[in-house]
Amino acid sequence: MWVLYYFFIHAIIIAVPLKSVNEIGKEVATMSKKIVILNGSPRAKGNTAALIQAFAEGAEAAGHEVTRFDLQKMNIHPCFGCCAGGKNPESPCVQKDDMQIIYPAYKQVDVVCLASPLYYWSISGQLKCAFDRLFAVAECNAGYKNPEKDCTLLMAAEGNGFEETAYWYDNLMKHLGWTDRGKVLCGDVFGIGDIAGNPKLQEAYELGKSL
Ligand SMILES: Cc1cc2nc3c(=O)[nH]c(=O)nc-3n(C[C@H](O)[C@H](O)[C@H](O)COP(=O)(O)O)c2cc1C
Repeated sequence: MWVLYYFFIHAIIIAVPLKSVNEIGKEVATMSKKIVILNGSPRAKGNTAALIQAFAEGAEAAGHEVTRFDLQKMNIHPCFGCCAGGKNPESPCVQKDDMQIIYPAYKQVDVVCLASPLYYWSISGQLKCAFDRLFAVAECNAGYKNPEKDCTLLMAAEGNGFEETAYWYDNLMKHLGWTDRGKVLCGDVFGIGDIAGNPKLQEAYELGKSL
């Protein structure tokens, strides 16, 4: 009888701290977010890449998990507009190219970071091609419902004509039902390395950390 009583009390004593450890662990796990960066810049060491680096460092400092896709190095074709995808959620598009690597990551993430140089008042072709292809994921759902995501925008440009792209991005967020978590738009950078020491790098870091 006393032996049973001892084990009962002992079990209560160790179960309480274990429970609280689990609760803390769960809290940490829910605060940590998965982030995917779609890098639309073809220049591996360019200005957009520097913004991405700062953003990722900030996000990782906050405990988030960051995955970057360098679209320039990937084999990603433009959308056919066939509207025949969405039949297999594991491989939602009719085209079987490197989007197959992006789809599983995209489905899991909390935050999508769009990163691009400004090309003729718009995003780069690399980013546009990849983003259009995400439509195949919405095709899996009734009414083309998009998965809920937060989103950020990182851009670099020679000038400061970001208005058209910011307008596009804001409307995209409304259409998709996504939440904009912030934009870092760095003007006055043209050549590789021009962005060194630019305060926008700190802004990108802070944006990543704020997520
Ligand atoms: C095809 C092309 C189009 C561009 N169009 C614009 C533009 O419309 N406005 C602008 O300010 N800069 C424009 N630029 C300059 C780039 O946005 C700028 O060099 C930027 O820093 C490049 O980023 P990256 O280093 O990540 O490649 C253009 C550059 C290229 C190659």
